[in-house]
Amino acid sequence: MSDHVTILGIETSCDETAAAVLTRGPDGTVEILAETVHSQIEEHAPYGGVVPEIAARAHADITDSVIAATLEDSGLALVELDGIAATSGPGLIGGVMVGMMTGKALAMAAGKPFIPINHLEGHALSPRLAEACPFPYLLLLVSGGHCQFLDVTGLGSYHRLGSTIDDAAGEAFDKLAKTLGIGFPGGPAVERLATQGDPARFDLPRPLLNRPNLDFSFAGLKTAAARVVENEPLDDQARADLCASFQQAITDCLSGKTERALAEFKGQHSGATRLVVAGGVAANQTIRAALEMVAKDAGATLIAPPLKHCTDNAAMIALAGAERLVAGRMDEDGLAFAARPRWPLDETSAQADPAYGGGKKGAKA
Ligand code: KG4
Ligand code: ZN
Repeated sequence: MSDHVTILGIETSCDETAAAVLTRGPDGTVEILAETVHSQIEEHAPYGGVVPEIAARAHADITDSVIAATLEDSGLALVELDGIAATSGPGLIGGVMVGMMTGKALAMAAGKPFIPINHLEGHALSPRLAEACPFPYLLLLVSGGHCQFLDVTGLGSYHRLGSTIDDAAGEAFDKLAKTLGIGFPGGPAVERLATQGDPARFDLPRPLLNRPNLDFSFAGLKTAAARVVENEPLDDQARADLCASFQQAITDCLSGKTERALAEFKGQHSGATRLVVAGGVAANQTIRAALEMVAKDAGATLIAPPLKHCTDNAAMIALAGAERLVAGRMDEDGLAFAARPRWPLDETSAQADPAYGGGKKGAKA
């Protein structure tokens, strides 16, 4: 293997079918040779949320062609790759199976290693696609399925500092949008309406904000907003005001807890403090601006991936594969890896504290 590694990444864990080919150099610089993200938004929009059966079928229909088109764009043949990485959990199991099995089949056919990747590790490493972001850093992972703080000290070394105890922030945005009937996915729709609204119009709760921990809760906020919609007829201005007030409540929770998390992180690590925000909700400009302020006040640097790499994509999966291949941190037999619908990044904390979405299938976050 040369000192540059070239990886095909595949992502199918939710409602985007994505593939990417990238090369990572020995100094960590990344060149994305080709990437494709095919969104299923139109298929799920009539239902106001992702329907697992529809997602699985759509992935099964197009994963092959998305990969073929991406490989062609990259100008490389399968045999020129050093490995194939695919999201192997956590996520909607039907889609995860499609991407993982396709990746395994290609790896087997080409005689290349197959590298199973945790989708959350992809998000955790996503800032390293665009710029140098050395370990350690504090990660706020805030997406449709997750809302947690992780102390990232190295590849595969993630310590969860706090997490939502019910809904994820993106899920809360999606539910408000569904209640208001303004479209799916909800985050961008709420953000758009909020630009015309007054964030002080509705007095919505900021659950757990004043508790001395790093946990979040958004279920009560979601219910409070739904009650406003039920209780009074809302004209266009009131709907915009509700979106702005809701976005402000989430922003306050995220920024308040981030302030606390940065203080904790600084107590653990000396040297420069980096705050990384990743996941789909990191695309929200109001939230980004608030986190920028919090970071500045704490003497930390905020690093946020470019918008297209905040939401689900395969470049982050390919990068995680490249980093694992270079570090020799791979399952001995990737082909034998079984897909995991639940796969916490910090297994120890998730198992020790089942309050975070534990249950028959195991810990969620
Ligand atoms: O990371 P992602 O693409 O998928 C998951 O792994 O969940 O995140 C999708 C989530 C959705 O809930 C979506 O509503 C939210 O990110 N989102 C936003 C924005 N763009 C996407 N939330 C708030 N503001 C946005 N601009
Ligand atoms: Zn994601």
